[in-house]
Amino acid sequence: LAGRRILVTAGPTRESIDPVRYITNHSTGKMGYAIARVAAYRGADVTLVSGPVDLKPPMFVDVVPVESAREMFEAVTSRSGEMDMIVKSAAVADYRPSTVGTEKIKKSDGDLSIALERTDDILGWLGQNRRDGQFLCGFSMETENLLENSRAKLAKKNADMMVANNLKEQGAGFAGDTNIVTIITGDSVKELPLMTKEETAGQIIDEILARL
Ligand code: CTP
Repeated sequence: LAGRRILVTAGPTRESIDPVRYITNHSTGKMGYAIARVAAYRGADVTLVSGPVDLKPPMFVDVVPVESAREMFEAVTSRSGEMDMIVKSAAVADYRPSTVGTEKIKKSDGDLSIALERTDDILGWLGQNRRDGQFLCGFSMETENLLENSRAKLAKKNADMMVANNLKEQGAGFAGDTNIVTIITGDSVKELPLMTKEETAGQIIDEILARL
C-alpha cells in the first residue's frame, strides 16, 4: 500500500442534548482502528477520523479526533479529495437533537420527549462527490435481512463495497475482538468466517486492493 492514501473512520459519534447529556451508540472503534493499523503496517498513508473511543492511537497514523456527526462530516469531506480509498466503519448517528440546550435540562414530574433531526449521511455525500478512481467502502450493521439491506445501502450510497455484519451473531459486532463479516460488492458476495478484527481488516484490505 506504499504511496496510497487511505481515510478510515471509526467509533461512535456523540450528539449533545444539553451540556450534561448526549446520544451515542455501542461502537468501540475496534474494527476501524484495526483497519487503520493494518493499512499503516502495509505502508499506506493513513488518516483515521475517530469518534470518542477508549483505544490507543495506532502508530504511524494521522488521528483526527471528532465528537459529533457534524464534526465527522467536516473532517471527512475536507480531506476526501486527496484520498485513494475511504473506509467508513464509524457508527455515525443518523439523528441528533434538533436543539441543544445551553443550560442543563431540569426534570419535571411528567415524561420528556426530545425532538431529533437527521444528520448528514457522510458516506452518501462521498458517493455523490467522489473523485475518479476513488474507492468507497461502507459498513452495514443489521439485526435482520443482512444481505438485502446491505445491498440496498451499497446502491443508495453509491459505494463500491459494503462490509456487513449481523449484530445478533455470536462473535460479531461491537466490543469483542472478533467479527464475522460478509463483503458485498455490485457483483459479488463473500462470507468470511469468524476471525479477529485484525484478520478481518487484512481481508477487507485485500478485497479492496483486488478491485482497485
Ligand atoms: N454513515 C454515514 N453517515 C451517517 C450514517 C451512516 O457515513 N450519517 C455510514 C456509516 O459509516 C456506514 C454506512 O453509512 O459506513 C451504513 O450506516 P447505517 O447507519 O448502517 O446505514 P443507514 O443507511 O443509515 O441505514 P439504517 O440506519 O436505516 O440501517
